[in-house]
Amino acid sequence: MSLRVFVPRDAGALAVGADEVAAALQRAAAGRHVGLEVVRTGSRGLYWLEPLIEVATPAGRVGYGPMTAADAAGVLDAALGRSGAHPLGRGVVDEIPWLQRQTRLTFARCGVTDPASLDDYRAHGGTRGLARALSLGPDGVVEEVVGSGLRGRGGAGFPTGIKWRTVAQAAAPQKYIVCNADEGDSGTFADRMIMEGDPFLLIEGMTIAAIAVGATRGYVYIRSEYPHAIAAMEAAIATARRARLLGARLGDSPYGFDIEVRAGAGAYVCGEETSLLESLEGKRGIVRAKPPLPAHKGLFGRPTVINNVLSLASVPIVLAEGAARYRDLGIGRSRGTMPIQLAGNVRRGGLFETAFGISLGELVDDVGLGTASGRPVRAVQVGGPLGAYFPRALFDTPFDYEAFAARDGLIGHGGIVVFDDTVDMARQARFAMEFCALESCGKCTPCRIGSTRGIETLDRIIRDDERERNLAVLEDLCHTMKFGSLCALGGFTPYPVMSALTHFPEDFGARPPRLEAAE
Ligand SMILES: Cc1cc2nc3c(=O)[nH]c(=O)nc-3n(C[C@H](O)[C@H](O)[C@H](O)COP(=O)(O)O)c2cc1C
Ligand code: SF4
Repeated sequence: MSLRVFVPRDAGALAVGADEVAAALQRAAAGRHVGLEVVRTGSRGLYWLEPLIEVATPAGRVGYGPMTAADAAGVLDAALGRSGAHPLGRGVVDEIPWLQRQTRLTFARCGVTDPASLDDYRAHGGTRGLARALSLGPDGVVEEVVGSGLRGRGGAGFPTGIKWRTVAQAAAPQKYIVCNADEGDSGTFADRMIMEGDPFLLIEGMTIAAIAVGATRGYVYIRSEYPHAIAAMEAAIATARRARLLGARLGDSPYGFDIEVRAGAGAYVCGEETSLLESLEGKRGIVRAKPPLPAHKGLFGRPTVINNVLSLASVPIVLAEGAARYRDLGIGRSRGTMPIQLAGNVRRGGLFETAFGISLGELVDDVGLGTASGRPVRAVQVGGPLGAYFPRALFDTPFDYEAFAARDGLIGHGGIVVFDDTVDMARQARFAMEFCALESCGKCTPCRIGSTRGIETLDRIIRDDERERNLAVLEDLCHTMKFGSLCALGGFTPYPVMSALTHFPEDFGARPPRLEAAE
């Protein structure tokens, strides 16, 4: 008798004991003289069930979780049919409603395949996009990506195909593809999941970008806090090279492209594209003035495509399935799917990929099932530390770039952080200013000085020191930061501050005069 078991090696699963579970399963199998093949995968993104193991059966993969090492023997007996159903049994994983509700395009393989196996990648549809890109040629690829409506998933939502077209049209002896894997937004982990769970997908997306624009070198800039992602990417790049999916004349085509991994030292601002380029060049991560755009003058002064992990990882499916399949999903100018990350005080946190258009309320109440603490949801912050706080009254907002912008918010990298009714929104507003002060690169005055003045002003408001006057000062300061900052770190910090003040005035002591959100 033998069993095939899938155990995630994703950092989120490792943090809650996946390695110990894998070892305990091996011991239990040896003790029962049962052959056991343990395949290490990425995570499916159902984080409240991690470590979630899956046992291959004729009916599909049957899940058990959240596992501990102590559960291994009992689960093995249940899987072998030697005991009744196990209380941790979740049935066939693909049939779990939380997964079934999703439209998994970018994350189709994550948690399913062995991320170290190129054969597994290919067996599950990998490299189909690259094959089509090679047959279409550079212009055809650019037009396909333009036609898909794909917009940058790093935060700004700029159309990916237009960026690529700009770089393709730039004449230069050397061009670069840079993948932004700094993933600094609070509550986000989708980039990490892809790099750990499906690294060949990112390699394929970067290679397609290189073919499209005529680049021969690529870099993946990964935050140093992601050691597992760094190791997974490095291993996959080495495998891809051996398979001639990278290197000169890749796949016997006329194109040559290679990728290197670079680890960032850990600064939020190094996720900002020009600061990232400085850091890649070995300099201090300080924001560059734009223009010139990186598409014209990027890494080492050469035309550079810089895209988020998810943007690049969405491209293979666009090419494989065709632009129309992608564009047909979504609403308005937000096309395709968005890997949404539910985090914070939420009962069912994890990765939920779905077409744009789902409402914030559906995500928090129906998908996330409210708070982990069981208390009422009071606020959610969407789009990372620079995103606005939304009260329940705005939960009808559809997940769409323009709809969020219309309500003085942003969807950013798709992170949703949930807070219950014990949250102090004045403290959260102060934290936003404090975060900006800590992470500011220091290049421009509104952000460098304004954030510290913001902390001081909020402290005065919180201790009821000339509240009305200081509220006016805060509003003025936010206006200056929004319009006077060189980049979005200083420019967007007013969003969490002003949304906290506008939607939760009771936390700032007295009801403040109606404040116009700094616009
Ligand atoms: C302060 C700051 C931090 C940022 N952090 C990230 C990040 O961690 N990852 C990311 O992809 N984009 C980040 N961005 C956005 C990038 O500047 C840029 O828009 C993005 O890499 C472009 O790729 P995309 O078009 O695929 O989204 C940040 C921007 C700012 C202003
Ligand atoms: S807004 Fe802040 S982080 Fe951005 S350039 Fe100015 S000082 Fe640097």
